Amino acid sequence: MALSNMRLEVMKTVEKQVDSFVDKYLIPVEEIWQPTDLLPNLQSENYIEEIKQIREESKELGYDFWVVLVADMVTEEALPTYESWLMDMEGVQQHGRQDGWSKWIRHWTGEENRHGDTLNKYLYLSGRVDMREIEKTTQHLISDGFDIGTGRDPYKNFIYTSFQELATNISHKRVGQLAKNKGNKMLAKMCNVIAGDEMRHHLAYREFVNIIFEHDPSEMMLAFQDMMKKKIVMPAQFIRESGEGIASAFENFSNAAQRLGVYTTYDYIDILRKLNEYWQIDKFTSLTDDAEKARDYLMALPDRMTRIASRIAIPEDQHQFKWVAPNGRL
Ligand SMILES: [Fe+2]
Ligand SMILES: [Fe+2]
Repeated sequence: MALSNMRLEVMKTVEKQVDSFVDKYLIPVEEIWQPTDLLPNLQSENYIEEIKQIREESKELGYDFWVVLVADMVTEEALPTYESWLMDMEGVQQHGRQDGWSKWIRHWTGEENRHGDTLNKYLYLSGRVDMREIEKTTQHLISDGFDIGTGRDPYKNFIYTSFQELATNISHKRVGQLAKNKGNKMLAKMCNVIAGDEMRHHLAYREFVNIIFEHDPSEMMLAFQDMMKKKIVMPAQFIRESGEGIASAFENFSNAAQRLGVYTTYDYIDILRKLNEYWQIDKFTSLTDDAEKARDYLMALPDRMTRIASRIAIPEDQHQFKWVAPNGRL
């Protein structure tokens, strides 16, 4: 169903600021870090020593850790899915115009592409995981696509990205912390710089929503409510191992992430609280009746979710993934 003219008008109005968004929230190619800056330089004389260091430092990291790092990397590698999804939003013109929303999406994609690249190369050099199995998982995930419940609606998509960029910031940061605690400096740095990118992206999408709230508060509120009622699904919701059914690996991956404390239900609730606060959801007045109800729903949701979360136990038994051998050594 086509979106209302109002939504398209708002998208057009906000689009005029795209250049300033790119300047403010993204970093030019010539200035930003590249994966090679963080990885062993294979053109240098002592590259073997650097690779040995990676392999040595990685020995202390446990099974759940490798599973989470693999799934995080695969999630990043499914970037073609995310770019094509965003390009398909109502209000985005891919053809002809170089200064519109498509510019934002292309530049954002260019930055994001470095994340999977970095982690993929690290995992490959670590020698701790079965790369071929992982590569099959990545290919499956891209083939399987995703459905994040936004349709082509830009309001819902920007809620999703505001939420999800912060979720990835948290999870990369925590993985980096765990790596650092085990003396793995190189990996810790990779995770931290990636987390830094995710934070800038989060701030950008959060701002897009903020501006849309100024133009179309009731509809923006309803879109926010709709996304939270559906729950924000992970971009790797359909992840699978080779030979297994679609989405079959997701729950075990998510359990590993919860056990490690890399990304938990409490983080989800915390993100929602932060978004409510930043957008000052409680301050909105003069909304339509439905949007007022949506506002009240959103304000009550974090506490409601906290009560439910305290009753959910995380399974302790580790699933055996094809990506990582039992002792982490193949
Ligand atoms: Fe990323
Ligand atoms: Fe991201």
